Amino acid sequence: MNRLAMQLCGVDFKNPVIAASGTYGFGREYNEFYPISRLGGISCKGMTIREKLGNPPPRIAETPDGMLNSVGLQNPGVEHFIEHDLPWLRQQDIVVIANIAGGTEEDYAAIAEKVNEADVDMVELNISCPNVKAGGAAFGTSPATAAQITKIVKEKCPRKPLMVKLSPNVTNIAEIARAVEAAGADSVSLINTLLGMRIDIRTRRPILRNNKGGLSGPAVFPVAVRMVNEVYQAVKIPVVGLGGIATWQDAIEMVLAGASAIQVGTAMFADPYAPLHIIEGMDEYLEENGIDRIADLVGGVTLW
Ligand SMILES: Cc1cc2nc3c(=O)[nH]c(=O)nc-3n(C[C@H](O)[C@H](O)[C@H](O)COP(=O)(O)O)c2cc1C
Repeated sequence: MNRLAMQLCGVDFKNPVIAASGTYGFGREYNEFYPISRLGGISCKGMTIREKLGNPPPRIAETPDGMLNSVGLQNPGVEHFIEHDLPWLRQQDIVVIANIAGGTEEDYAAIAEKVNEADVDMVELNISCPNVKAGGAAFGTSPATAAQITKIVKEKCPRKPLMVKLSPNVTNIAEIARAVEAAGADSVSLINTLLGMRIDIRTRRPILRNNKGGLSGPAVFPVAVRMVNEVYQAVKIPVVGLGGIATWQDAIEMVLAGASAIQVGTAMFADPYAPLHIIEGMDEYLEENGIDRIADLVGGVTLW
């Protein structure tokens, strides 16, 4: 019996552990440590319609129990992915999720059309990108713009289940989740990174060349659990939980908060085997607690 097997938006997963976008590339480097097919899924590095060089360095800073990054969506462009990475990924037995991003509505429409025709299982829509035409506020920080991008992508990419990845840099994440659900999202994933900043007290300059960056790693975990639980209560579509998960105990906690599947990101920089330990520990927890299917644990927290 495979207690960890589950379905998300009609897609079969052998287990609910997915590599988080931007922390696993397109899987090749990790495949030198172990067959990446041991994971349930991979959310590929965020892609844009054209190649992107990303932000100038330094673009990584350490923080207590986490890290700040301002990589700036460096990626080879969607066509390069379809030609060079996707054929290899398709030979591995793993759910392939294309993570897409853009700076304008037109960018999102164009990339959505491309991935609609590509042999990927799902699409994860990153709405944390700055809207270049509207002064740089991220699309994902207002219910109206989040819904608008979701609607465009759903229209241009009707063949793939759509998971919208929410930004935590908002006052009311449940409101954004409801807006994207109404606009056609089949699922939501959260959280993306929390905006942060570090300053070098010697030079009195920010450590990151971009001044600000996204905080990830264990430091953000309680924020992610809180937000996943709020969103779980607000929507009917499945929720995928991530942000700071490093152990199987964290993963089970996230499932109890309401996550149907989980993603692991920054933890893999410290230990590339982290997802394998998580899968093993989750399975043992289910067995010890007499739970036949991971789905039976989703949202199992009893609030006071
Ligand atoms: C170096 C780095 C690059 C990232 N790139 C992307 C990206 O391209 N697209 C995206 O949706 N999220 C990206 N993220 C965010 C992660 O997928 C994840 O949402 C976040 O790091 C929180 O999870 P974690 O604490 O497990 O890493 C990136 C994170 C890091 C650390």
